[in-house]
Amino acid sequence: MKEVLVTGGLGFIGSETVVTLIEHGYHPVIVDDCSNAKEAVLERIETITGFKPSFYKIDIRDHQKLHEVFKEHSFFAVLHFAGFKAVGESVQKPLEYYENNLGGALSLLRLMKEFMVKNLIFSSSATVYGNPTELPLLETMERKEATNPYGETKIMIERISEDYVKANPEWNVILLRYFNPIGAHPSSLLGEDPQGIPNNLLPYVSQVAIGKRDHLTVFGNDYDTPDGTCIRDYLHVLDLAEGHVAALKKIEEKPGLEIYNLGTGHGSSVLEIIRAYEEATGLKIPYEIGPRRAGDVPVCYAGVEKAKKELHWEAKRSLKDACLDAYNFQKRNPDGIK
Ligand code: UFG
Repeated sequence: MKEVLVTGGLGFIGSETVVTLIEHGYHPVIVDDCSNAKEAVLERIETITGFKPSFYKIDIRDHQKLHEVFKEHSFFAVLHFAGFKAVGESVQKPLEYYENNLGGALSLLRLMKEFMVKNLIFSSSATVYGNPTELPLLETMERKEATNPYGETKIMIERISEDYVKANPEWNVILLRYFNPIGAHPSSLLGEDPQGIPNNLLPYVSQVAIGKRDHLTVFGNDYDTPDGTCIRDYLHVLDLAEGHVAALKKIEEKPGLEIYNLGTGHGSSVLEIIRAYEEATGLKIPYEIGPRRAGDVPVCYAGVEKAKKELHWEAKRSLKDACLDAYNFQKRNPDGIK
């Protein structure tokens, strides 16, 4: 079995990917500092898969401790999910974001170099495209300046990876640009578990659905879109997880540096998401229209041809399935994972 290091492997996307990796015969080793994830996720992974991955509770910037992990295992590849991810918070705490996200990536790259682990898959984001002037967004389009430090760290890590592969052509790095992952594992054991008030749409809607919050505020209905609300490309987190397995297969071909969008290729408005959620669950989601949120782009969706053609991957699950899985997870874990 191929050993793969998964940083941030207890988080929302990391944990679903760990499950999918196990199901595809890989042997994931998890490193997570639990700053935004619960240790209980590990047992849940075991409940779903019957396999308990090795787990190290460490900050990847701790060179010595991470060194031990590399010494104990023989990694075929690294999947790097670990990082701070709240856009708004990153504006308030830029130093923490640069220090954590860039420091973490550099520490990891240094150890990969030392141990000659030459395959990396990095969690990038559609945020690197900035405010789209042309749609769908294609991997060949220019990166724009980010509107917040979180996005800037994604851009910088992409650049660092490109420079590193230029200098070390025997390395392989796949940058996966995620669009909007939603949903949860159908077992309701794993899902998005934000601390405090959710920033993202789906966790907020789910908390309204179970009565934890009384209504959703839609951030603006005066955008230049058919119903006036912002459009995003929402994909089921399990489809996203499968995209990582497809990228791991690709990396065996020694592709050098490659970039892939992981999205559905279709945009949905905030009001369409509310309707899909209501249809999936049979519930009514009360909402109010509020002001725009700073930094939101009106429309964002992926061009998915490159991933289809080269990774043989495409998102298969429906919006309704994703909404139902998100709801079931929230219902079963009203106060998050414990
Ligand atoms: N929204 C609301 N009300 C809410 C929360 C969100 O109306 O309470 C709206 C937003 O205005 C936006 C849409 O729902 O139009 C989606 O918002 P999210 O916060 O869920 O997602 P974003 O597209 O803003 O952010 C996501 C990721 C970021 C990433 C960004 C750009 O969460 O990590 O995409 O790629 F940087």
